[in-house]
Amino acid sequence: MEKPLIIANWKCNPITLAEAKRNFELIKENTKTAEKVEIVICAPFVFLPILKPSENVKLGAQDCFWEDRGPFTGEVSPKQLVDVGCQYVILGHSERRRYLAEKTEAVNQKIKAALGAGLKVIFCVGSETKIPGEEMEYQLTEGLKGLDKRVFDRLILVYEPVWAISTTKEKVIATPKEAQEGGLYMRKILASLFDAETAKAARVIYGGSVDSKNIRGFLDEGEMAGGLVGAASLKSEEFIDIIKNACYPER
Ligand code: 13P
Repeated sequence: MEKPLIIANWKCNPITLAEAKRNFELIKENTKTAEKVEIVICAPFVFLPILKPSENVKLGAQDCFWEDRGPFTGEVSPKQLVDVGCQYVILGHSERRRYLAEKTEAVNQKIKAALGAGLKVIFCVGSETKIPGEEMEYQLTEGLKGLDKRVFDRLILVYEPVWAISTTKEKVIATPKEAQEGGLYMRKILASLFDAETAKAARVIYGGSVDSKNIRGFLDEGEMAGGLVGAASLKSEEFIDIIKNACYPER
């Protein structure tokens, strides 16, 4: 069985480089025995060249552009990310769709460019509704358009019910059962886009108010391959506890 994947999405935090370095080092120091968990920290672009990934703690970005270089003011390319030590990139996060009007067609181009540069892609598929449906089908179909099933060894899918993100007004936490239903729905779509085997083997993780108390439920009952952690990843002790609980019972 593959190791659970625990990914921190720091979003637009922290404000200072000093704090980013402190948190990154603290996590590295306290997870040396967590070889049973794959740990990734996705930090803001400006901190990436300074944070030093280790054997246990890998580095990721939260977005990238679809071209390698050129006249694209303000953009960061996947090859630039690789050059500063990134191995992962989050693409298609619901906050980018909500605040920056990012379209799924653009996410598709970014996924292709990131995979082409050798990055592992953490592709977020969000649902605004409680019952997963058409919206997710669209994101998966358009987001993965033109991709070969072989990319699944470097493609991680995230089921993110938008209503369960800790910073949304609703403040609702999804149950492991709801996470499981979202994951199963995604696999159903993957089976129709690729094949049953690809759908079964795909790594589907869960994102939305994950903390040290609920992570096991999402992994066990929810049958998720890991968690994408927002707010709780900003408190390093809590994030370390999430990692420890993800490798339970061998803590
Ligand atoms: P929270 O863990 O703060 O709910 O954020 C979820 C998320 O958006 C992770 O990418």
